[in-house]
Parts: sequence; C-alpha cells; structure tokens
Amino acid sequence: MSECRSETDHNHHHRGKSSEILLDKTKILANLPIILGQVILDAGCGNGYMSKEFYKLTGELGKVYALDPDAVSIDVLKAETLNTNIEAFVGDITKQTELGASCLDLVYISTVIHGFSRTQLTGFVNEVKRLLKTNGTLAIVEIEKSDTPFGPPLDMRFSPEELKEIIDLNPTRYVEVGEFFYMQLFER
Ligand SMILES: C[S@@+](CC[C@H](N)C(=O)[O-])C[C@H]1O[C@@H](n2cnc3c(N)ncnc32)[C@H](O)[C@@H]1O
Repeated sequence: MSECRSETDHNHHHRGKSSEILLDKTKILANLPIILGQVILDAGCGNGYMSKEFYKLTGELGKVYALDPDAVSIDVLKAETLNTNIEAFVGDITKQTELGASCLDLVYISTVIHGFSRTQLTGFVNEVKRLLKTNGTLAIVEIEKSDTPFGPPLDMRFSPEELKEIIDLNPTRYVEVGEFFYMQLFER
C-alpha cells in the first residue's frame, strides 16, 4: 500500500471497454510530460493498457495508480501487474478517492468523461484539482464532437472548447490522437 492511498469500500460494478485500437498511443505518450519517478493516475483505466505504458516511463521509483469502478477489470489488471509499481483499485473519479491530496504529477482520463452527468463532471474537476500537484497535468482524451462512424450521441460529447469552459485549469496543448480522437492537456 502506498503513502498516497488509504482503504475505503466501493460498490460500483461497471464493465470497462478499451479504446486501444482506436488511439495513437505513441502520439499520446510523446505529448505527455512523463519522466522517471513520477506519480500518475489512469482514471477509468479499463484494461489498463495505458497504465502499463506509464509504468515503463515512470519506472521503479514512480507509481501508477489505475482506477476503475469495474471490479472485474481491476481484478484482472491486479493479477497482470503483480510485483510492479502499478496499483489497480476500484474507485470513482467523480467522488473523493482514496488518494491523498497533491500527490499526482498526471491524471490521464481516456474516453470516460462523455459518460458523466453535470454533477459528476463537477465532482471530477474537484477531485482532479485536489489530487494534482502544483504544475501537474490533466490529460483528457475524447472522441471528436462531430459526425463519426461510431461513438456516443453528439450531445454527450465535449469539444475542446467546451472542456476549457468546464475545467478551471490552465489549458496547454491540443493534439489529435487518432482519426476521431483528440487529447486536451491542462495544467494545475
Ligand atoms: C470506454 S472505457 C475506456 C477505458 C480506458 N480509459 C481506455 O481508454 O481504453 C470507459 C471506462 O470508464 C470507466 N468509468 C465509468 N465511470 C467512471 C467513473 N465515475 N470513474 C472512473 N472510471 C469510470 C468504465 O468502467 C470504463 O472502464
């Protein structure tokens, strides 16, 4: 158990889906300011494929927290990441998590927030601001808010401009990270 985290109970049981084949992982990683020793949260990690990439970059001195409400996904990821510095746990990023304040260099959240209600979005922003260190980064990957061959209804999606209105952190970089996806970075 790391110093950043304490135990509480959870009762969410959603099944995760992966965006892995749709996203340009290399481009995402090239545009994230990750260095050895950092502490990262993969919020709504699903199968945790990005958590594993983050771990390669942060190394043994760093820490990757992988959070998802889906207990089955978390159990599988735990089994896959034994003896690593990836700590997978069941949680909800729209509420206060088990992680301590100001302990994260990066919060990464990919294809998750379009499913949030307005109340959940407010909770998410509050929790991210609590968790990030000063100058820490929030990276949001989302599907474009335009006609695409798949994806949620348009009125559920966020454009980068809408994200900037909702999230009171400093917007820094916008990157296209797949044919239909973008990543918007914010700094605390
Ligand atoms: C489309 S999947 C994306 C998974 C992964 N981020 C990826 O890019 O492959 C959405 C994930 O968000 C998770 N999720 C849903 N509500 C959440 C919440 N309130 N907090 C954290 N994760 C949540 C789901 O369980 C699911 O694993």
